[in-house]
Amino acid sequence: MARYIFAGNWKMNYTIREAKEYFEKFLQYIPQIDLKDRLIIIAPPFTALYYVSQMLQNTPLKLAAQNVHYAEKGAFTGEISPPMLRELRVEYAIIGHSERRHIFGEKDELISQRVAGAYKWGLIPILCLGETLPEREAGKTLEVVRNQLERGLEGIKDLDPAKVIIAYEPVWAIGTGQNATPEQAEEVHSFLRESLRKLFGERASAVPILYGGSVTPENVASLMAKANVDGVLVGGASLDPEKFFKIVSIEVLKESHKGCSLPDYSSLSKDILEIPQKYKRLVIVGASPKPDRPSYIVMEYLLREGFQVIPVNPRYPEILGQKTFPDLESIPSDFSPEVIIIFRKSSEVFPLVERALKLKPKVIWLQEGIENEEAKTLAESQGIKVVMNKCFKKVHQISKWNI
Ligand code: PGA
Repeated sequence: MARYIFAGNWKMNYTIREAKEYFEKFLQYIPQIDLKDRLIIIAPPFTALYYVSQMLQNTPLKLAAQNVHYAEKGAFTGEISPPMLRELRVEYAIIGHSERRHIFGEKDELISQRVAGAYKWGLIPILCLGETLPEREAGKTLEVVRNQLERGLEGIKDLDPAKVIIAYEPVWAIGTGQNATPEQAEEVHSFLRESLRKLFGERASAVPILYGGSVTPENVASLMAKANVDGVLVGGASLDPEKFFKIVSIEVLKESHKGCSLPDYSSLSKDILEIPQKYKRLVIVGASPKPDRPSYIVMEYLLREGFQVIPVNPRYPEILGQKTFPDLESIPSDFSPEVIIIFRKSSEVFPLVERALKLKPKVIWLQEGIENEEAKTLAESQGIKVVMNKCFKKVHQISKWNI
């Protein structure tokens, strides 16, 4: 799964002719966008879907519908079914948009049926939720979004985090030019992340949570800098190919990296300097897909520095775009890691180091707080260097590469 999602919701705009003109411009920008870490989704109106689907066939862009019914077919005048959309290669469906809720009176019950229907038929629902201004002013924001989340996902029992997207869209920010501040967005996003965890367990924290409401090329970077903002759902600004290009091509700099001068090699000892200079293949045991975890930050940084990194974690198929292996034993034998970084509990260190030694790394690197003398002696008796990572104890404390 891509790490960041940029979705454009055209709402009731653009005929087929206008859609053609739009893509004639927008597709020219595609080669300039680094799509390794991001996914671009466009939601045209139903009438343009067939045409746009043909036009986008050999492009990396994905298609969404702006709504979907829950049944396969039947007497539901004016509705469109999930298989009808699948036939057009539509992969996503926006559900519960505030305009559906507030202008057309769609209630949580119907929204929940639509979400469950989409999910069942293999469309990824983008479930929208958000409070109105009076609700925010009455201090009810979190209560409102929790209810909408719980009720919206009611029909999904065994949630696959790769098959659902949540979009937080405060109603007062939609189409008003008044976006939520990054802090307001982050407060709700982290609350939603926690609520997902409570509802479906730890793995649900990997569900992408997008922000929507007056996103522009000017404010997108500061919103995306927040740890729990995984993407944006853009209305008005997605109608202009140039503006949308500016939005989808921003460099995402998560706030946890700001002020982090990694690596400040100048202040390090020779022993430490040789790690990034000499070695290129690393394994991270206990890697995490959560942007606020130290292992995530280490991994993202190492990838940016050009290291080959294999994450090890039995719970996720992929982290930061890298295939994840369930344990040290299943790492491909031709990878031969030079450095093995261990982010696990103290009690697991000794057996993990024992297993890591079988891969014959040059360096074993332990996270701060999990020093283990026995493991260190064992590794060193086999000529393997053991270093301690003192840098990533708390993300906000990162200041130097202080091993
Ligand atoms: P806006 O719309 O970007 O025009 O505010 C957002 C949305 O409705 O998804």
